[in-house]
Amino acid sequence: MKKVHGLFLVAIFSLAYTQLIKGQSMPNCQTKCGNVSIEYPFGTSPRCYYPGQSTFQLTCNETTNKLYTGNLQVINISHSGELRILKATSFTCYNSTDVTESISYNTTLVDFTLSNKNSFTAVGCNTYAVMTTAVGDRSYSTGCLSLCDSTPKENGLCSGEGCCHTSVSNGSQRFLIESSRFDRDASVNNSNPCFYAFLVEEGMFNFSPSPDLLNLRNVTEFPVVLDWSIGNQTCKEAGNTSICGQNSVCLDSTTRTGYNCKCNDGYDGNPYLAEGCLDIDECTTSSTIYRHNCSGSSACVNMMGHFLCSCPSGFDLNTTDNSCMRKHKPEYYGWTQIFLATTVGFLAIVLVVSCVQQKIKHRKNTELRKHFFEQNGGGMLRQRLSGAGTSNVDVQIFTEEGMKEATNGYEESRILGQGGQGTVYKGILPDKSVVAIKKARLGDSSQVGQFINEVLVLSQINHRNVVKLLGCCLETEVPLLVYEFINSGTLFDHLHGSMSNSSLTWEHRLRISVEIAGTLAYLHSSASIPIIHRDVKTANILLDENLTAKVADFGASRLIPMDKEQLTTMVQGTLGYLDPEYYNTGLLNEKSDVYSFGVVLMELLTGQKALCFEQPQQSKHLVNYFACAMKEDRLHEVIESQVMNESNQREIHEAARIAVECTRLMGEERPRMKEVAAQLEALGVAKTKHELSDQYNEPEVNKHLVGVEILPAQGDTGTTGYDSIKNVTRLHIEAGR
Ligand SMILES: *[C@@H]1O[C@H](CO)[C@@H](O)[C@H](O)[C@H]1NC(C)=O
Ligand SMILES: *[C@@H]1O[C@H](CO)[C@@H](O)[C@H](O)[C@H]1NC(C)=O
Ligand SMILES: *[C@@H]1O[C@H](CO)[C@@H](O)[C@H](O)[C@H]1NC(C)=O
Ligand SMILES: *[C@@H]1O[C@H](CO)[C@@H](O)[C@H](O)[C@H]1NC(C)=O
Ligand SMILES: *[C@@H]1O[C@H](CO)[C@@H](O)[C@H](O)[C@H]1NC(C)=O
Ligand SMILES: *[C@@H]1O[C@H](CO)[C@@H](O)[C@H](O)[C@H]1NC(C)=O
Ligand SMILES: *[C@@H]1O[C@H](CO)[C@@H](O)[C@H](O)[C@H]1NC(C)=O
Ligand SMILES: *[C@@H]1O[C@H](CO)[C@@H](O)[C@H](O)[C@H]1NC(C)=O
Ligand SMILES: *[C@@H]1O[C@H](CO)[C@@H](O)[C@H](O)[C@H]1NC(C)=O
Ligand SMILES: *[C@@H]1O[C@H](CO)[C@@H](O)[C@H](O)[C@H]1NC(C)=O
Ligand SMILES: *[C@@H]1O[C@H](CO)[C@@H](O)[C@H](O)[C@H]1NC(C)=O
Ligand SMILES: *[C@@H]1O[C@H](CO)[C@@H](O)[C@H](O)[C@H]1NC(C)=O
Repeated sequence: MKKVHGLFLVAIFSLAYTQLIKGQSMPNCQTKCGNVSIEYPFGTSPRCYYPGQSTFQLTCNETTNKLYTGNLQVINISHSGELRILKATSFTCYNSTDVTESISYNTTLVDFTLSNKNSFTAVGCNTYAVMTTAVGDRSYSTGCLSLCDSTPKENGLCSGEGCCHTSVSNGSQRFLIESSRFDRDASVNNSNPCFYAFLVEEGMFNFSPSPDLLNLRNVTEFPVVLDWSIGNQTCKEAGNTSICGQNSVCLDSTTRTGYNCKCNDGYDGNPYLAEGCLDIDECTTSSTIYRHNCSGSSACVNMMGHFLCSCPSGFDLNTTDNSCMRKHKPEYYGWTQIFLATTVGFLAIVLVVSCVQQKIKHRKNTELRKHFFEQNGGGMLRQRLSGAGTSNVDVQIFTEEGMKEATNGYEESRILGQGGQGTVYKGILPDKSVVAIKKARLGDSSQVGQFINEVLVLSQINHRNVVKLLGCCLETEVPLLVYEFINSGTLFDHLHGSMSNSSLTWEHRLRISVEIAGTLAYLHSSASIPIIHRDVKTANILLDENLTAKVADFGASRLIPMDKEQLTTMVQGTLGYLDPEYYNTGLLNEKSDVYSFGVVLMELLTGQKALCFEQPQQSKHLVNYFACAMKEDRLHEVIESQVMNESNQREIHEAARIAVECTRLMGEERPRMKEVAAQLEALGVAKTKHELSDQYNEPEVNKHLVGVEILPAQGDTGTTGYDSIKNVTRLHIEAGR
C-alpha cells in the first residue's frame, strides 16, 4: 500500500513537473547526443528522465558522441516502448587444432527486456551457437546449427548453410551467447577460422558468405531491440490515463510489467509529456503516413486530430474518393432561397413591429376605456346590478368594440336622428337584432350616480308603450344607451316632418293619445316609485309599423349638463312643452308631464307645432293659440281638416277640453294623468269599445316593477330616487335661467 502511494506521488509529481512543457524533452535538457535524439522519459541529467527509473538516465560521451545506458550504446529511442542498442558479436576462432580467440557475452538488463523483434544468429560452417535466457528465475536455452559441405551460395539467405538463426522470445532480462566448432568426420577444408554468434534486430543482417565467413569481426556490433516501460504497474494500478499527457492514451505493456503511453490518432509527439502530443497537420505534412487524401478540387482543412476535405460552394464532397462534384440543384436556387429568406425575415420584422405598435395602442385604448367606464359609473352599475333586490334587472353592458361594430364605426348613414340630447344611430348587434344606439351626453361626473339609477329604473320598465332600454356602454367618453329599434319614426315626423302626409286618422290619433296617457299614468302612479318623464313631446313618441306609440327618451335628458346645447334643445323643442309653473319654481312634479301631454294632445288635434314662430306673437305658443280658439269657440278653425268629420266632433271637443285642462297654468288645476288616461280611453271605448279595450293593459307591466328599488344618488344617501331626479331638474332649470 505504501509503495502504491509512493508511486502515485511520483506520478503526480511528474505530471505537475511536465505540465507546461511542449516538445519532446524536458526543458533545459540535452536533446541530442551525436545524431541520436534524447526524448523524455529518458534524459541525461536526473531531472530530465522519468523519476525512479534510474536506467532511463543516459550518458553521452562528448568525445565520441555516443549515448549509453550503463555500458550499452543507445542508437534509437522510440515512444512505442523500444530502445535500440548496439551489441557486439561473440565469436570463437581456431587454428587447426586449438581455440585461438573466444569472446562471449553474459549480459544482464535492468528495466529493459529483450524484444522478440530480434533474432539469434550464428555464422560459420560446422558450428553451433547456444543462447541461454533468463525470465525471472527461470532460464531457457535455444540455439542453431550451421553445417557446410561446400562453400555456401551467395543467395543472402541465412538458412543453415554458413548461417543459421532462430527467433527470440520477449521478456528476457539476461542472455548468454556461446558458439562452438562442430567437428565432423569429413571436415570441411575450412579456411574460415572464426565462428560468430549474435543477436540482431530482424531484417538488419543480410548474410553474405564470402566476407562474413572470412571476417565478421570487421562488423563488430549489431542493433538489438530492447523493450522498456514505465514502472511495474498497469495503467489502472498507476492511475489510469492521467499519467500520460493530453491527447494520448495509456497502454499496458504487452511485453513487460508497467505501461506505455501513445498519442491519439491524428496527433504525434511525446505522449509522456503533458502537452507532448501535437496535432498533425495532415494538409502540410510530408509524411506519407499522415498526409491527407483529399483529391481533385477539394481543399484540405486541418482540424484538431483530423482533417476535412472541403469543396467550393455549389459542390458536394464525394466521400468515395474525397473529390468534389457539382450539387444536383443549380446554384441560382441558393439565390432564390436567400431572396425568400430575406423577404420572409423582412416581413416578420414588419409584422413584429406593427404587432408591438398595435399592442401599445390596444393597451392605451384599454386603459382609456377602463377610465371612461369608471368615469361613467360602470363600477357602480356593476355593483348595483350584483346587489340585492335587483334580480329582475336586465341591463346589458356593451363593449365599445361591440358598439363600434354595431354602428359600422358610427357611420353617418346610420344616424337616425340628431338633437340636443345626442345622436341616435341604427345599430345591428351580432345576433342580427336591430337596435337604436343613442350617444347620450354626460359631462358632469357628479351625475354619474343618477345616470346609473336612471339606467336601472328604465331597464325595469317593461311596458308595451315604452321604448325598452336594452343596455348601455360606458367605455366611451360619452355613454351610449341601447334601445329597442322602433322603425316608423316619431310622432313629430308624422305630424310635422318627413311623414306628415301619412295622414293619421282621428282614430289613430286618439289611440296614440290613449297610449301615451296610459303610459304616463302608469309611470306616475302604478310604478312603486313615481317616475316623471319630464320631456314628453311628439319628438319623443316613436311609432312602430302598427302606429303603436312608444314613449322614448326616458330621463336621458335629465343628464344633460347645463351648457349651450341645453339651451338650444329648449328653444328647438322642449320649450313649447315646458310646464310654466315648473319653469318658474323649479319644482318638478307629475303635473309637469300632464302639461306636456296636453301640448302633445293639442298637436294631435291641430297638426300644429308646439311653438310656431310664423304665428303672431300671442299665437306663437300652441297652448295659447289653442286656448284662445277654445275660448272663442272656434275650435273647428284650429283642428286639422283631415281629422274632423261629422261623426267625431263630440270626441274632438272632449279631447280638446282635456288638452286645455292639462295645460292649465297651475299644476293643481290640472287633472292627474290617470284621470286623463281614463277620460281619453272612455272616448275611445265609446267609439270602438272593442278596439281599445286591450290597448291599455297594466297587470303584466306591474308585475315587472314590483320590488324595484330606486337607489339613492351618490353622496345623497338620505334621499330617494325621486328626490335625486328633482334635484337634477332644479339644477337644470336654475342654469337654464
Ligand atoms: C548516426 O551517425 C553515424 C555517423 O556519425 C551514422 O553512421 C549513423 O548511421 C547515424 N545513425 C542514424 C540512425 O542516423
Ligand atoms: C529510430 O528508429 C526509427 C525507425 O525505427 C527512425 O524512424 C528514427 O528516426 C530513429 N531515431 C533516431 C534518433 O535514430
Ligand atoms: C569517451 O570515449 C573515449 C574513447 O572511447 C574514452 O576514452 C573516454 O574515457 C570516454 N569518456 C567518458 C566520459 O566515458
Ligand atoms: C594452435 O594454437 C596453439 C595456441 O596458440 C598453438 O600452441 C599451436 O601450436 C597451434 N597449432 C598450429 C598447428 O599452429
Ligand atoms: C552470467 O552472469 C550472471 C550474473 O550476472 C552469473 O550468475 C552467471 O553465472 C554468468 N554465466 C556465465 C556463463 O558466466
Ligand atoms: C585444404 O585446402 C588447402 C588449400 O586450399 C589444401 O592445401 C589442403 O590440402 C586442404 N586440406 C584437406 C584436408 O583437404
Ligand atoms: C577486415 O579488417 C581487416 C583488418 O582488421 C582488413 O584487412 C580487411 O580488409 C577487413 N575486411 C573487410 C571485409 O572489411
Ligand atoms: C516495482 O518496481 C519497484 C522499483 O521500480 C520495485 O522496487 C518493486 O519491487 C517492483 N514491484 C514488482 C511487483 O515488481
Ligand atoms: C481507473 O479507471 C477505472 C475505470 O476506468 C476506475 O474504476 C478506477 O477507479 C480508476 N483508477 C484510478 C486510480 O483513477
Ligand atoms: C511477449 O511474450 C508473451 C508471452 O511470453 C506474449 O503473450 C506477448 O504477446 C509477447 N509480446 C509481443 C509484443 O509479442
Ligand atoms: C464518387 O466517385 C466515384 C469514383 O470517382 C464514382 O464512381 C461515384 O459515382 C462518385 N459518386 C457520386 C455520388 O458522384
Ligand atoms: C482518407 O484517409 C482516411 C484516414 O486518414 C481514411 O479513413 C479514408 O478512408 C481515406 N479516404 C479515401 C477516399 O482514401
